[in-house]
Amino acid sequence: MITTMTKRPLAALALAAFASAPAALPLPAQASAAAPAAAARPASAAAPAAQASGAATRVDCAKVKCIALTFDDGPGPYTARLLATLRKHRAKATFFLVGKRVAERPKLARRIAREGHEIGNHSYGHESLPALPDFDLAAELSRTQDVIRRATGKRPRIMRPPYGHTDARVRAAAKEHGLAQVLWTGTTLDWSLRDTRKIEDTVLRLAKPNAVILMHDVVPHTVRAMPRVLRELRKRGYRFVTVSALAGPGRLTPGASFPR
Ligand code: NI
Repeated sequence: MITTMTKRPLAALALAAFASAPAALPLPAQASAAAPAAAARPASAAAPAAQASGAATRVDCAKVKCIALTFDDGPGPYTARLLATLRKHRAKATFFLVGKRVAERPKLARRIAREGHEIGNHSYGHESLPALPDFDLAAELSRTQDVIRRATGKRPRIMRPPYGHTDARVRAAAKEHGLAQVLWTGTTLDWSLRDTRKIEDTVLRLAKPNAVILMHDVVPHTVRAMPRVLRELRKRGYRFVTVSALAGPGRLTPGASFPR
């Protein structure tokens, strides 16, 4: 199931681009435009859903229409603008941060956390994790946990594997680091669209209750698309929550996978 979500071309090329252009472009996940069905929350999960980093947003996603907007590969040059937009619309989001970029912009990571968003681990160097030997795989996770903790005072409880590449060994490593794995229900392919209007339309099309939408705050068009996306989805009755708030209590245990 997870492997069918990802058609995996040249991670190595992408990595080379990452190494040579640290401040520039993202290495977004390459995946089919729509991942398989969203996981509906079980009807029994009616307990209060606000959690940890979602604490500011007391929302019960069993009762109201929730959506989790997620932004990968930052913090980057457009993250501050995105934070201002989210704050204006009183929206919470989830940021899967690349450790190496947190080391470059620790204050931005701290601001993400301070403004009530959730932070996840997106590896240190944005490598395809299944390709790494055990030691390097563990280091990708642990170095990122450490740099995020130094910047924000808190260790993440969720991770998203770069490119959505995962396997049993990656999930086991995540578990060892106290992390649940978070994928998505829909990806905008924003990094390849690079067009504000198309990104807006794609997010609006992918939106559904309990969706987890994959975007990249290192793509400027995505950041520019957010005001309209937030206005439109609000009109449709959505609440913008963190992944932990969407998942609800007890769902994101170490080694678990979400949304499916
Ligand atoms: Ni990524």
